[in-house]
This record gives sequence, structure tokens and C-alpha cells, in this order.
Amino acid sequence: MDLEALKRLAAEKAVEAVEPGMVLGLGTGSTVYYALLKLGQNVRSGLDIIGIPTSIQTADIAQREGIKLSDLATYPELDLTIDGADEIDPDLNLIKGLGGALVREKITVEASNRLIIIADQTKVVPHLGSKSPLPVEVVQFGWEVTRNRLGQRCSRVVQRQNREAAYITDNGNYILDCYFERIDNPAQAEVEINNLPGVVENGLFINRAEQAIIATQNGIHIQC
Ligand code: A5P
Repeated sequence: MDLEALKRLAAEKAVEAVEPGMVLGLGTGSTVYYALLKLGQNVRSGLDIIGIPTSIQTADIAQREGIKLSDLATYPELDLTIDGADEIDPDLNLIKGLGGALVREKITVEASNRLIIIADQTKVVPHLGSKSPLPVEVVQFGWEVTRNRLGQRCSRVVQRQNREAAYITDNGNYILDCYFERIDNPAQAEVEINNLPGVVENGLFINRAEQAIIATQNGIHIQC
């Protein structure tokens, strides 16, 4: 099976947990895309749910699929969120945000009673930081100062680009991708990085997920 087939497999498995009447956090990314397609199909067959999108991209796809959308002002408590991840460690801690939606994703997860992560096997790592940089969203004002402070904590910091220009998030901020060899104490790192002036949020999601549905060449593996 190719990577896209694996992503679809994990996504469709997660959608089985969606029940009628749920208010559902809709994550962002290429794996969530397949969940949105399946949800759209189910909605067209009569499933009644409300989705809370974590990005403009997800809102656009969900709308196209006919999924009813709302917001956290109307629904501050969600039944379930389905989202992807960039890295998953053995304790079910995550790096997220390569798709640029980490702030809205973290707020949505905070509002959610449950989080199911969907991924293909390439996202499983022995420790966080081994493959993916850690995305950190920062305000534009004085971002160079924030970058320098982040640089003291990791081996390299790169401002994310979108073609020739700086990448701008849905919230109007920059993203700094921080490269580590490994993040030894991710719970502490999450708090300390968020304490730096200029940081809006970082992509460490610690003790947030209830389970990860991981699609492998040998079938679905559920990590709890
Ligand atoms: C979006 O900001 C991210 O957190 C995504 O959930 C994550 O990057 C996984 O995306 P893919 O499913 O596209 O790999």
C-alpha cells in the first residue's frame, strides 16, 4: 500500500468513532483530508454532526463536503477531535504543526473531551524531535529576538517560508521550525518554550491524545 492508502485507512477507521449528534473538532493536514471525505460521505447518507475546523483549509474542504460547521464560541466543549500528527512517541506524545495549524489545533484539543490521532507508520518515532522540526508560532513583532532565544534551546531555527515570502499562519503570525536531535523532556519543553516572549504556541502535544490509529503495511495498529 502506498502512503496515501495508509492515510486513508487510518482516517476511515477514526471516522467509525463518530456518532450522530457529535460536535467534532476537525484537524488539519493530508491525513485528515481523508477523514473529511469519509465524514462528507456519511453526512450525505444522513449523519448529523457539527464540525469545528482548525484551519481555513479544513473549513474549505469540510464546506465542500457538506459538513455543517460552527465555532468554539458556540460550542466551547467538543465530543471528539480527529487530527493528524508529525511525530508520535511511545508515550503518545506528539509533534504537530507542519501544516501550520498548531495554535487552532491545540485550542480545539483543549476544548475536546477526546482526541484521536490518525497517521501512517512513518510518523512513529522512538523520541520526539528525531525526524520533524518542532514548529513554534511567534508574533511578527521582534521575531528575530524570539528566534535567537529559541536558538539557545535547539540546534537550528528556520523561519518557515511560503515560496519566496515568509509563511503566515491563519492567525497572522510566523512559524519558526526548531530542529533538535531529540527532545528529552517534552512536557517541560512545552511549558518553557511557551514562556518565551513572542511565542504564541508550540507544536508539542503532551498527554493530549486518547489513542493513535496508525496504518501500517500489516494493518491498523492502535496505540493507547
Ligand atoms: C497541521 O498543522 C498539523 O498538525 C498536521 O496535523 C500534521 O502536520 C499532520 O499532517 P499530515 O497528515 O499532512 O502529515
